[in-house]
Amino acid sequence: MVQSEKASYSIKNPYHAKFISSEELCDPSSGKDTRHIKIALPASELPYIVGDSLCVIPCNHPDLVDAIIAATPCNADDEVTAPNGATCTLKEALSAECTVAKVSSKCLKWYAAHIANAELQAIAEDKEKAKEFISGRDILDLLQEYPASELNAQDLVDKVGKAIPRLYSIASSQNYNAEMTELTIAMVEWESRERTRYGVCSTYLGHRCHEGDDIRCYIHHAKKFKLPENTDTDIIMVGPGTGIAPFRAFMQDRVASEAKGRNWLYFGDWNVDHHYYYKDEWQTYLDAGQLQHLDVAFSRDQEYKIYVQHLIEKNAEETWKWIDGGAHFYVCGDANRMAKDVDAALHKCIAEQGGKGEEGAAEYVKQMTKDGRYQRDVY
Ligand SMILES: Cc1cc2nc3c(=O)[nH]c(=O)nc-3n(C[C@H](O)[C@H](O)[C@H](O)COP(=O)(O)OP(=O)(O)OC[C@H]3O[C@@H](n4cnc5c(N)ncnc54)[C@H](O)[C@@H]3O)c2cc1C
Ligand SMILES: NC(=O)c1ccc[n+]([C@@H]2O[C@H](COP(=O)([O-])OP(=O)(O)OC[C@H]3O[C@@H](n4cnc5c(N)ncnc54)[C@H](OP(=O)(O)O)[C@@H]3O)[C@@H](O)[C@H]2O)c1
Repeated sequence: MVQSEKASYSIKNPYHAKFISSEELCDPSSGKDTRHIKIALPASELPYIVGDSLCVIPCNHPDLVDAIIAATPCNADDEVTAPNGATCTLKEALSAECTVAKVSSKCLKWYAAHIANAELQAIAEDKEKAKEFISGRDILDLLQEYPASELNAQDLVDKVGKAIPRLYSIASSQNYNAEMTELTIAMVEWESRERTRYGVCSTYLGHRCHEGDDIRCYIHHAKKFKLPENTDTDIIMVGPGTGIAPFRAFMQDRVASEAKGRNWLYFGDWNVDHHYYYKDEWQTYLDAGQLQHLDVAFSRDQEYKIYVQHLIEKNAEETWKWIDGGAHFYVCGDANRMAKDVDAALHKCIAEQGGKGEEGAAEYVKQMTKDGRYQRDVY
């Protein structure tokens, strides 16, 4: 494994990697825009192991930044000290060092007092009302709905809050390619208050970065989401949607290390024709006997839903054989719905196929978790 702590890159001291490309994994007209992102990132500088995530500090959408400045009495080139301590223009600070796509309750309180607006102050002072107000609003909404006749550029920079990094499961192994890191990212975009809203980091990497651009990043080492140390151990990977990302890295790593353990992948998304991410790679692994089972659940190819947990239930007998034989069970992707349902399917499989009943299955899963045999990276 390529793992050393040579460099201590962090949010305060990010590594400056170079953006390579953003490739469409599906046609955006299919209802989803999911991208395969490549970033030049030498293992000698930023080592990680598969299962880790890349933390990226994004830049804000330039149109949003321009509109924010236009909604204030400030000038784009007003000199300010950014949250990182650097002296720069207001535009540079709002673009790269601040959070502007969200309003914090602290910022709301400050702004309401600054413009001395009684109505806004009443909202800001009431926890529930403030929560409701800031939900779905960005700094531009605030400035346009409650304009300020006076506003100091430095105050604005200080009060909006600093830029927040986003995590992305790494979709490639440095044991396979030591020079480049790959990610699988779903573009976040929605309409609200007659304006298109863009997820800050997903669209920064997916739509706005160009080859050679500087990407500020560092590694989040996943302590509880790793391949088994014993390469003979079987693994079952459940990764619908962008949850597929770390399992692409797992497969690259298992093949590079000539692991003898068997590999079973569950993937799912909307339509087989559009959203079967990395299909050719899975087929190559299958053909080479490196992937023993591949089960795919396309939820919108028929009138009823087929999800990964339905396939786990269908394969319960074989799944139990693998688990009983010591296989590790991994889940990545949506935390709110999918991970809960897959957890229930795992319990059911152990209860019924393992003959352990409900309570016995709960105990068994608890022990699997303790032993690091049930690992989840869900968000
Ligand atoms: C460990 C970990 C691993 C991850 N791995 C991946 C990965 O591999 N691939 C991936 O794509 N993501 C991954 N994520 C999620 C990722 O970190 C970001 O949260 C995601 O990309 C959105 O960030 P953003 O900056 O684009 O959006 P933000 O600017 O953060 O906006 C997202 C917010 O916008 C709001 N919002 C979104 N849609 C709507 C809507 N329709 N209506 C109203 N409000 C809405 C919600 O408040 C939401 O929280 C991972 C997260 C974690 C914690
Ligand atoms: N917590 C989060 O913030 C979070 C987590 C994951 C994804 N997302 C956002 O959702 C969007 C798409 O994400 P994604 O591409 O990764 O795909 P996804 O939304 O996770 O969907 C992948 C597949 O999972 C299916 N699914 C839905 N409910 C499920 C359940 N209960 N059990 C099992 N499978 C289920 C979906 O089917 P149907 O859609 O047909 O029901 C789809 O086929 C992105 O904008 C992403 O940022 C947000």
